[in-house]
Amino acid sequence: MTQIKATNITWHEGHVTREARAELLKQKGCTLWFTGLSGSGKSTTAFTLEHALVQMGRLAYVLDGDNIRHGLNKNLGFSAADREENIRRIGEVAKLFADAGVITMTSFISPYRKDRDLVRDLHEKANLPFLEIWMDTPLETCEQRDPKGLYKKARAGELKGFTGIDDPYEPPLNPELKLDATSVSPQEQTTRILNYLKERNIIGS
Ligand code: ADX
Repeated sequence: MTQIKATNITWHEGHVTREARAELLKQKGCTLWFTGLSGSGKSTTAFTLEHALVQMGRLAYVLDGDNIRHGLNKNLGFSAADREENIRRIGEVAKLFADAGVITMTSFISPYRKDRDLVRDLHEKANLPFLEIWMDTPLETCEQRDPKGLYKKARAGELKGFTGIDDPYEPPLNPELKLDATSVSPQEQTTRILNYLKERNIIGS
């Protein structure tokens, strides 16, 4: 757990409640945490869902691993420590977005269970819904699709420490949803997630 380094800092409470923001936006903020191997369909599904939600008049936003690594997390690589810091920062950012009332989607491999659990804990302590969505697409499918050609490089030994090849992925033990992109389209995945959000009363029907 990262400790606070600064001293002499004081929490300042705002005047606008989360409830007031929820009323304004007609929705409850939450975090949908997509986890799974590279090429498992996390980003495709998250962006399809974001589009569907916005078309329904909902405020939704995707925090995407590859994209965030171009900016906020551009100083991080793929060592275990850097992946941990990557997830810690995004967990905090997602929490802020969810608190602001946004239906927030994160699309990160997030290979370590303890890092995901810390983010879950962060949300639960703040009373914000955290839904872990495991893209349980088998490695063979991800490798066959290989949209960025990275599995090929990893197999050829040109890319070291690639998740699923020579770096670990720890599957969730109790994900809220488990999806497999092998035979289900991003549109069908989106419908399933939307139904789940209605069941959980995060969006109205
Ligand atoms: S995480 O492990 O720290 O959660 P993140 O989701 O941000 O990873 O980034 C994963 C993306 O970075 C992959 O989809 C892939 O495009 C790219 N990538 C580059 N090198 C690696 C690597 N060694 N392992 C996994 N993904 C990598």
